[in-house]
Amino acid sequence: MSRLKDKVALISGAASGIGHSTALRFAEEGAAVVGFDLNAAGEGWQAIAACAADCDFHTGDVTCEGDVMAAVEQVTAKFGRIDILVNAAGVSSYGATTDVDEEEWDRVMNINVKGSFLFAKHVARVMQQQQSGSIVHIASVEGMDGINGQLSYGTSKGAVIQMTRNMAADLAQSGVRVNCVCPGAIETPLTAALRDDSMKAIKQQMEAEHLMGRFGEPVEIANAILFLASDEASFVTGHPLVVDGGWTAGTVLAL
Ligand SMILES: NC(=O)c1ccc[n+]([C@@H]2O[C@H](COP(=O)([O-])OP(=O)(O)OC[C@H]3O[C@@H](n4cnc5c(N)ncnc54)[C@H](O)[C@@H]3O)[C@@H](O)[C@H]2O)c1
Repeated sequence: MSRLKDKVALISGAASGIGHSTALRFAEEGAAVVGFDLNAAGEGWQAIAACAADCDFHTGDVTCEGDVMAAVEQVTAKFGRIDILVNAAGVSSYGATTDVDEEEWDRVMNINVKGSFLFAKHVARVMQQQQSGSIVHIASVEGMDGINGQLSYGTSKGAVIQMTRNMAADLAQSGVRVNCVCPGAIETPLTAALRDDSMKAIKQQMEAEHLMGRFGEPVEIANAILFLASDEASFVTGHPLVVDGGWTAGTVLAL
């Protein structure tokens, strides 16, 4: 399989969950893959290194412009180009309008919105020079639907969807496409708390929100990211691709 042959991909949040699964799918499709994460790569990275055309990993914080610039400079110095950026670093957060304190609001906005902005800003400069590239942000269905107790997370994901459109408008004339994926609930460490026995009722309620009656697997999101990142999506930009097992499509009544 070689849908990303000769492509260089930079993926934030690559140590876990959706970012890690995306790195593996990209490697399987022939890309050179560079991961970036606050945490070290971990054992799972070996599977990626085993099949990637080339492979690197940088530790750093997406909210720190210096870390982001250093990673982009190192990738460009080594490979001479960046074809794909996937912004998968992100955090969840719980709290309603009257409960969220300023520190938590800032943390979530900084990681989920500013972090994606910073990486896109510096990678887009490289892509503009190439006159080609594909940027994929990870938003959420929670950026489209309001859910109680998810104020800062949902707001951050709504911002990511709008940021996608603004960046698409800024960069289209330079041959750079910008899209985002809006996942439903996915089985990753981010949703680990829901696997606790005490959260069983809430998890069942959330599963029922998806028409397909289940959470998604990380690879089901990685495959959608792969499409947007690849040349197969050459006429797609500014698009929030919903991958949610039917969460936003409607409701199944118990008739
Ligand atoms: N899991 C879900 O149900 C779900 C649903 C919709 C959207 N998303 C989004 O998908 C993205 C990936 O989520 P996931 O489920 O794979 O989560 P995850 O926790 O498995 O992975 C997130 C990764 O981001 C990294 N990270 C966090 N803060 C960072 C920072 N400041 N700098 C660098 N790296 C940082 C973490 O170390 C981690 O490796 C997130 O943006 C999340 O909001 C997840």
